[in-house]
Amino acid sequence: MEHSINFSLNGEAKAANCRADTTVLEWLRADARLRGTKEGCAEGDCGACSVLVRRPGHDKHLPTNACILLMGQLEGASLVTVEGLAESASGGHPVQQEMEVNGSSQCGFCTPGIVVALAGLLDSNAEPQEDEIHDALAGNLCRCTGYRPIVEAAQAAAKAGGALPGAEAIPAKGEVGGAESVFHLPKSLAELHDLRAAHPGAVLLAGGTDIALNVAQAKARWPRAILTRDVADLRSIEERDGTIIFGAAATWQEMLPHLHKHWPSFATLVRRFGSVQIRAQGTIGGNLGTASPIGDGSPALLVLGATLILSGPNGDRDVPLADYFLDYRKTVRRDDEVIRAVSVLLPETGEEMRVYKVSKRYDQDISTVCGAFHVAMDGGTVAAARLAFGGMAATPVRCMAAEAALVGQPVADGIRAAKDAVLETFSPMTDMRGSADYRATVAANLLDRFAADLAGETVEVMAL
Ligand SMILES: Cc1cc2nc3c(=O)[nH]c(=O)nc-3n(C[C@H](O)[C@H](O)[C@H](O)COP(=O)(O)OP(=O)(O)OC[C@H]3O[C@@H](n4cnc5c(N)ncnc54)[C@H](O)[C@@H]3O)c2cc1C
Ligand code: FES
Ligand code: FES
Repeated sequence: MEHSINFSLNGEAKAANCRADTTVLEWLRADARLRGTKEGCAEGDCGACSVLVRRPGHDKHLPTNACILLMGQLEGASLVTVEGLAESASGGHPVQQEMEVNGSSQCGFCTPGIVVALAGLLDSNAEPQEDEIHDALAGNLCRCTGYRPIVEAAQAAAKAGGALPGAEAIPAKGEVGGAESVFHLPKSLAELHDLRAAHPGAVLLAGGTDIALNVAQAKARWPRAILTRDVADLRSIEERDGTIIFGAAATWQEMLPHLHKHWPSFATLVRRFGSVQIRAQGTIGGNLGTASPIGDGSPALLVLGATLILSGPNGDRDVPLADYFLDYRKTVRRDDEVIRAVSVLLPETGEEMRVYKVSKRYDQDISTVCGAFHVAMDGGTVAAARLAFGGMAATPVRCMAAEAALVGQPVADGIRAAKDAVLETFSPMTDMRGSADYRATVAANLLDRFAADLAGETVEVMAL
């Protein structure tokens, strides 16, 4: 049975009859014949395919990579492409006009994606600072022009203002797509578990910034997927009784203000998590679900003592994140369970937390090593410590020996022994991101950075 995918395209209601696992990029270019949206890398890296998406229940359109977004994920959403921006004002959207005036485009291949990213920024932030413009462009690569004229165009466009095509809210159905590829959009956890029991082979899909690469790159075909997006229980972010609970389907973008309020260093890390486009789609549940040893969420959450709430057909169970990882991409989560939420105690007086990502590029890159450190101080002495690393073993992992070396003395006094413990504990691998020696040296030296930060010798926290 066919269930058309209903969404708004550049302000007009649209019903697409296609496989739900078609990429939005493919559909736009081949079916809708809107070819302003370009294909560069087809893996979320270059931004040439950027489009604006307003998810159901949200009020803002956010830049998203169409190459790793699937048509079934558009159900109930509003989609704006560069063509829609061109029609939004006479002479084009102010970003388009200013890009032209400022000579911000040469070959032009990156230009539609850049226009979309900047129009999205201005829609959420009418007066962006220069660093916010650079942040908005971190997921858009331009080989010819250089970013100075692009940033100047953004600044000029901000003065002019500019609206996106308006769109009515469209109710999302529970099932979309055709017989060859159907996506389910359950609204409750009970419905999600029933669907998973009925279709054990179905893909569990959150933002897709990890798993949809199988479609975009490896050309996998998904007869069936079950989306977490509309499950109310998975969407919420709640603070109560000294705890914050992040629903597994919360995006990194949605989490950012909370992280900034409680753990500014964690927020700084998340601002380097992929790009604006990736953070708008990618979720905490997907990051822990994929269980990568170089996933950036895990080290920070490990030192915050996070607990996972796993939900199965017979109820929930709590699993400390430290007990979740078993081996390379293997976890204690059973096949019939999903991550429901991640629970973290809010910080108390005397606690300090820092997390550092070391990667080849500052923006839009995967970690070579990620070090996360948390101490609870009693006067000038470390009363408790949690130190964790990504990129140093088959799983994200704490270094207990280094923690023991810090406890009972001032941070500065224990650092030498903690560094030695890191060097003795880990035998990291060598790959294209870094040699084993490099990784071990960097991981140990990040502890010096931590000590310097706590002593007020460095500044590492970005404004939000
Ligand atoms: C260009 C690019 C840059 C990136 N940069 C970074 C980075 O800087 N740091 C980083 O850590 N990662 C990065 N990633 C990886 C990815 O964006 C993150 O891991 C993201 O958090 C995945 O979330 P998602 O919702 O997109 O997951 P999805 O792709 O939807 O799912 C990933 C896996 O988790 C499973 N899953 C999803 N939700 C649940 C749930 N509730 N319970 C159980 N399993 C679940 C899925 O079945 C799938 O196996 C990047 C990816 C791209 C393409
Ligand atoms: S084509 Fe490069 S990010 Fe989509
Ligand atoms: S203008 Fe050529 S890639 Fe940007």
